[in-house]
Amino acid sequence: MLKFAPSILAADFSKLGEQVRDAEAAGADMIHLDIMDGHFVPNLSFGVDIARASKKACSLVHDAHLMVTHPEHYIDDFVEIGVKFITFHLEIGAVRNDLGEGRWVYEIPGDLNANRIVDIIRRIKAAGAKAGLTLNPPTDIMRALPFLDEIDLLLLMSVNPGFAGQGFMDNVYQKLSLADEFRRNNELSFEIMVDGGVDLTNAAELHTAGADILVSGSAFFKSPDFKAFVRELKS
Ligand code: DX5
Ligand code: ZN
Repeated sequence: MLKFAPSILAADFSKLGEQVRDAEAAGADMIHLDIMDGHFVPNLSFGVDIARASKKACSLVHDAHLMVTHPEHYIDDFVEIGVKFITFHLEIGAVRNDLGEGRWVYEIPGDLNANRIVDIIRRIKAAGAKAGLTLNPPTDIMRALPFLDEIDLLLLMSVNPGFAGQGFMDNVYQKLSLADEFRRNNELSFEIMVDGGVDLTNAAELHTAGADILVSGSAFFKSPDFKAFVRELKS
């Protein structure tokens, strides 16, 4: 069954509690928290205090998408407030590729520090949360394969991280199919989440290609009828 996780980055922060309660009432399965440090991504979003407020307002499972250079610093804070999934980027410690107009995306030029990645996965799990790993659009899915047997969630980005409301990047489909095939062939049980530019026009195809959980920020929070959006997304 396809699960839906609204990203509160696109919510109306002047009434955050009401927005997450309305999302829960509309049939959302999780709440997606976009934590940004202004270094790994060109935007500063919110931290553990906003996450705590959302958790207080809504009993749904929360997942923290850490778009931060040092995810190690935040694991305990989010576990302590009861966030269930903590997801960090494979590209931490990689190279910043400037895209112009104050935008950038981190890419992995050569080798990556596998020991650090495994260490963070194990620290998240040892702290009692589920471990997620996420890939920027330019990152080849093959780079994630060595870690897939250790994670609970694979988050495939379909936008360069940093902002809600961006255009969907459809190179995510081939990563999705490869990850789903690898999961099947190796009898692994991690869930696959897609995040960025997801809406009612691409949800069905993403689910067919192997996505178990879809994140939507703008398309959902800008929709006139939350219940109708969730019903159509899951239909
Ligand atoms: C982008 C975030 C996404 C984004 C989703 O860096 O990780 O979760 O906020 O928002 P939309 O659905 O508007 O792309
Ligand atoms: Zn996200």
